[in-house]
This record gives sequence, structure tokens and C-alpha cells, in this order.
Amino acid sequence: MEKFLDILSKTLAKAFTAAGYDNSYANVTVSNRPDLCEFQCNGAMPLAKTARKAPIMIANDVVAQLDNEVFSSAEAVNPGFINLRVHEDFLSKYLNVLRENDRLGAPKCEKSRSVVVDYGGPNVAKPLHIGHLRSAIIGESVKRIYRYFGDTVVGDIHMGDWGLQMGLIIAELKERKPDLPYFDDVFTGEYPEQAPFTISELEEIYPFASGKSKVDADFAEKAHAATYELQNRKRGYYALWEHIMRVSVADLKRNYANLNVDFDVWMGESDADPYIPPMIEMFEKQGILQESDGAKVIEVAEDGDKKEIPPCIIVKSDGATLYATTDLATIVQRMQDFKPDKLFYLTDKRQNLHFEQVFRAARKSGIVPEHVELEHVGFGTMNGKDGKPFKTRDGGVMRLETLIADITNYVEQKILENQVVDAAEAHKTAKIIAVAALKYGDLSNLATKDYIFDLERFAAFEGNTGPYLLYTIVRIKSILNRAELTDGTISEANNESAKNLQLVLSSMPEQMLMAYRDSAPNVICSYAYELAGAVNKFYHETRILTETDEEKKRSYLALISLAKRALEECIDLLGFEAPERM
Ligand code: ARG
Repeated sequence: MEKFLDILSKTLAKAFTAAGYDNSYANVTVSNRPDLCEFQCNGAMPLAKTARKAPIMIANDVVAQLDNEVFSSAEAVNPGFINLRVHEDFLSKYLNVLRENDRLGAPKCEKSRSVVVDYGGPNVAKPLHIGHLRSAIIGESVKRIYRYFGDTVVGDIHMGDWGLQMGLIIAELKERKPDLPYFDDVFTGEYPEQAPFTISELEEIYPFASGKSKVDADFAEKAHAATYELQNRKRGYYALWEHIMRVSVADLKRNYANLNVDFDVWMGESDADPYIPPMIEMFEKQGILQESDGAKVIEVAEDGDKKEIPPCIIVKSDGATLYATTDLATIVQRMQDFKPDKLFYLTDKRQNLHFEQVFRAARKSGIVPEHVELEHVGFGTMNGKDGKPFKTRDGGVMRLETLIADITNYVEQKILENQVVDAAEAHKTAKIIAVAALKYGDLSNLATKDYIFDLERFAAFEGNTGPYLLYTIVRIKSILNRAELTDGTISEANNESAKNLQLVLSSMPEQMLMAYRDSAPNVICSYAYELAGAVNKFYHETRILTETDEEKKRSYLALISLAKRALEECIDLLGFEAPERM
């Protein structure tokens, strides 16, 4: 269905034509002076020159031709603004059509794209920490937004599963349990099905081994050797690696599920490994690999670079490949498997240069053709109240699990105090609210900006927060449950708060489209917040349940249930849900 602003612009265009003017200036926007009008058209000003007339005269001519079924008031104001208010009847009719639309008026994208969203990016066997949080939260939302608009999206977690951490774990295990068959070079039998460690042991081994490698050069050497042997698929090490993967992936799945984040593809750096040798061979043939201090690099600097872009290192002087090599090989694999129109990456902004180099190398070597879009969003840091990257109280890296548990506990206390839900339901409800608090606190910021994690603020039921949106939805649910009437059609607004709510609802398709075009969940956040505000104002100023005129009451119910659907749509795209009570 047509977007509300487009209908208004078309109405203006007709009036421009009828008054004898070029109608390409008839664009209508939401008013930036809500005290004066709801919408405005500023086209008379730029038109004045070619029309050789004062803008105010043009504005007057246009206003005289305007359709008054659409506008209840239209006013030409010096120097040539056209201030507009829409007709209540016209507005409510639009909303009644919007209600019938299963996407609440959001258009589908013109051409459905195939997109790979690379997000999450945890490192296997290292506990998930909040550094990976933003990638998961933003990526999940962007994936949902793309899908909502009709793209075919593959969400790929792209685990770090092939690096030194694996060698460290293997080397440490060898010291602790040298008798395991994995370390027996002549063993040819079947390895045990059961992993020789649990997830907690694994999480203890890695930091221990990592610390040890920093003070024990001999051990560090062993870990490097084990990494190398693993990468060359030494049988016992590879079998151990498979155990590490199984145990870790199960744990990761549980953690991400707690966050309402899920991936279609659980691939990682190890899956890109087989693509590396043929890719390097291709680069060699193309003649784009250059020697530099024994390393092989692709020159990616371009004329007009504002800062120096160093060459992309493909093979180090010791023969090892790097992070960039893996990312390029992963692109080769994705081009083959998914034929994407777009590759979208989400990592923290410290990786901006890495992706710039990788993208340039990918174009230069032709592994990504011109028509395929490459985009990396480098997001800012989640900081503590001291403005520094968020840490635990004792200064350590905060584990994601701990963070979620802390928020959940805090919220649980709050809802128990409110006494709306009983103790049995409280924990489940608290988890739902905690996820909303965390995700909204993150997504409501522009992704590229740093933000401060503030538990009390994020979890507040009032203000610009996730719980406030949930609270609004819960409030509407409760009214609808108590209403003892079904909703009817939305009738014309009879006061300001009703009209404002209707206007906000009518702008939903535009807002959604903007979020899609800019891959920007924060647009949905601000829209949902505005909508929740409009709902609550309407609720406070309208006697809904005690309304005796049945027709009116049904219309109010229709309006708030539309608002509920809209809010639910928004939070679903943001990646969280609402409880029944709170
Ligand atoms: N594992 C990486 C890290 O922890 C993030 C991976 C991001 N994705 C990618 N294709 N490089 O920094």
C-alpha cells in the first residue's frame, strides 16, 4: 500500500499542476513545527525563481487548489511555506486500510537480494564476552530487518575456530593428560566418543594456557607447533579439535539462545581453510602478490586515499596465513555457496582497517565482482560508567552469561516489588525483560557510537528503554483483555492525543523502510519509543474501558490494538519479545 507521505505529496502535486506550476516541487514532509502544523510543503521557495513569482503567491495558488478531503487545513505562510493538517476522516480511513495489511503497510523491497550477514564472531573455547555482544545484537536485528523486507538472508556466525587458542588448549591438555590416545602418534584405532573435558574445564584450560604461554617460551613454542600440526590435520589433534568444537558449540548455542539470537550457518575460520591454497595460487597467477620482507602481500593503497592503507598481508614470512587470508578465503566460499548480492559484516570499529584492506583485495583479485556490495559496520564500544570499556568489578573481562544473569536478577527484584507476577513466573518474565533492556540499550544508539551501559537506566520501566516498550504492550494487552468487547473500525480522532497516535501509526511504513535502507535498528527504536509515548498519552487522556458509547469504545480498542501490533512488529525486528504481565 502507498505510504502516507506519498499520498500527501501526490495530493500536493495535483494542486501544483492545477495551479499551473511544475509539480516536481510538491514534496510533503512531517512538520518541524508541530505547534503550527502536522505536515509542510516547502516547494514554493525553490520554484519561485523559475516561476518568476513570489513564493508566497505560489503557495497561495497551490493552497486554493488543494483537496479538502485530504487536508482539514492548509495555509500559505510567509515567505512561502504551506502548512498542512490532515483531515481526521482521511487519516482514520488510511489506518483502517493499514490494519488489513499483514505487514502494516511496509513495502517489500523492490528486488530481493541474497545477503550474507557475518555477525557474532565468537572465538571457540574462549568464553563469550561482551565484546561479542554488540555484534550479535545488531547483527540479529539487521538480519531480521532485511528478511522482513524480502531479502534472502544467511546469518553466519563465523567462529574463530582455527587459531592459536586451539594449539594452546591442545598443548596444555598434552601436559595434563599425556596418556590420552590423541597424543599417541602410533595410535590407529577409533578415538573415544566422549570429549576428555567438560565446558567448564575447557574454559579453565584456555586462560591458563594463554597465561602460561606468555611466561614460558618453551610452552609457547609447543602451542605454536600444535597449532601448525592441527592446521595440517594431524589425526589426533584434529580429533581433539572436533571435541573442542562440539563442546563449545553446544555452549555457544545455549548462550545465544538466551539472547534470542540464532544463526543459519555455523561456519568458522576452519571452513575457509581448504579454500586458502587454491586462492593463493590464483593470486600468484594474477600477479597481484608481491614480496615484502619475505611476506606475500597485495598492495591495496589507492590514489586519493586520505590515510595510508598498508598492503594486505596474505602469507607471513614463516609461511603462516593471517586473519585477512581467512576472510578472503571465506569470501570465496560464500560467493560459491550463496551467490550473494551483498556481504555484510559487523565487528567492533577497531577492525575497520582490516575490512578496508580485505574488501580492496577482494575487488582487486576479482573474487568479488563489482555488482556485489561489501559493507562493514564497525560499531563502538560498550563502556562502563567510568567511560572505559565495560569490565567486571575486579577489572576482568565481563562474561556475557554473568552480565545477563546480573540484569535478570535486578529486573526480578523489581517485578517482585511490583507484585503483578507471582514468584514462579517472575524469573521467566525477568529474563524476557532483561533481554529487552540489554538489546534496546544497545540498539537505540547509532551503531558506530560508543555507549555507556547503565543497568538502572536500561532496565527502567519509564523512559527511552526496552522495558518501557514492553510495559506499553502489556498495558494494551491488559486493556484488551478487560474490555469485554471486540474492536471495531478506527473512527476519526476526536482529540489531540488520538490524532497524534493515528499520525504516528500512519508513518510506520516510512520508518521501517528507512531502517531497512540504512541497515539501522536505531531508527526502529526511535519510532517504537515515539509510538509508545503516543499510546500512553492517549491512554491517560481517554477513558477507554469506561466509555459508554459502544461504537466509540470499539474504535478506541481498534486503535490500541493496531498500536500493539505495530509495537510487537518493532520489537520482533529488534530481536526481543513481550511478556504477558510485568
Ligand atoms: N572472531 C573475530 C574476533 O573475535 C571476529 C570475526 C568477525 N568476522 C569476520 N569475518 N572477520 O575478533
